[in-house]
Amino acid sequence: NVAPLIDPFQRPISYLRVSVTDRCDFRCVYCMSEHMTFLPKKELLTLEELDRMCSTFIGLGVEKLRITGGEPLVRKGIMTFFNQMSRHLEAGTLKELTLTTNGSQLQKYAGDLYAAGVRRINVSLDTLDDEKFAKVTRWGRLSQVLNGIDAAQKAGLRVKINAVALKGFNEDELNTIVDWCAERDMDLTFIEVMPMGDLGNEDRLDQYWSLKDLRGRLAERFTLSDLAERSGGPARYVRLEETQQKIGFITPLTHNFCESCNRVRLTCTGELYMCLGQEDMADLRAPLRADPDSNAPLEAAIRAAIERKPKGHDFDYSRQKADGQMTRHMSHTGG
Ligand code: GTP
Ligand code: 5AD
Ligand code: SF4
Repeated sequence: NVAPLIDPFQRPISYLRVSVTDRCDFRCVYCMSEHMTFLPKKELLTLEELDRMCSTFIGLGVEKLRITGGEPLVRKGIMTFFNQMSRHLEAGTLKELTLTTNGSQLQKYAGDLYAAGVRRINVSLDTLDDEKFAKVTRWGRLSQVLNGIDAAQKAGLRVKINAVALKGFNEDELNTIVDWCAERDMDLTFIEVMPMGDLGNEDRLDQYWSLKDLRGRLAERFTLSDLAERSGGPARYVRLEETQQKIGFITPLTHNFCESCNRVRLTCTGELYMCLGQEDMADLRAPLRADPDSNAPLEAAIRAAIERKPKGHDFDYSRQKADGQMTRHMSHTGG
């Protein structure tokens, strides 16, 4: 029997988020600059290494895997990896295999994902307006994503929509988005824009739309009841009594949810970040490659890294703009 991963603050680590690529077919304005330089492909963990990494974490008690990016579905051969993870689902050691996607490739992959054992997915979608969609993603086509979401639902996947709340951008679409999700029986989570990555001259403060304000706007239309349920994740939920719809809020900046944090993040190059909002990381690629026949060095490195998990993040918009700004991109750590 293996000792589970417990951090210094007695939080069990049962959830691994894995970024499988830093690439994306979109360039969302709050996520990437227009001319991103991506990592040379040789820097990425191979699919075999990803399998070994994840399998080792599962061996240490990780029960939930969320595959992210960049856009995970643009990684070549990614379905091979999903199919490999299926064996842990079948063995019962992995309880949930899921992903966060921009939806652009779902028409192609929805059926395969379901077959691999994926049951729920998160799709990022900030607007339902063609022109605005093209603007926020810099060139994405909304219809492609909407068709992808349809395909996912038809394949039997439960879809949760993630919308980043952006001042002056989707404020006026609040009702439209809420109603659209209700009609399609999709959960919906709003996210406060986080200060990740240096995107040049864009000031994230200008984009910041407080979810407190958003919630107030919802309350003008609906009776909101707070739900106690917390998935160990960052979201808080309310139910709209009139429609029974569940809405989540991810508010890293106005609410700290770190005390119940159950997760760590693996980048596509094999670095383990113990917290989204901290720079500290542990290289797991070297110990992975140290011995092709044994995972012992990797396991030791993982345990040592978990020992370093900090109590919480450092995001703070109340201080000067540059303060607490992460130089790392969300697409590197996978959100
Ligand atoms: P769960 O797996 O149910 O927790 O889903 P989720 O909604 O957290 O996952 P998703 O990938 O959809 O993430 C939505 C947003 O939450 C992304 O913008 C993430 O960056 C953010 N997020 C997820 N985990 C954390 C965290 O531990 N800290 C902070 N600050 N943000 C997080
Ligand atoms: N702040 C908040 N959310 C972000 N995302 C990407 N960059 C940021 C940011 N700077 C979101 C995407 C997606 C999720 C994985 O992360 O919209 O929903
Ligand atoms: Fe791509 Fe998601 Fe970043 Fe948009 S937010 S550029 S879809 S990784």
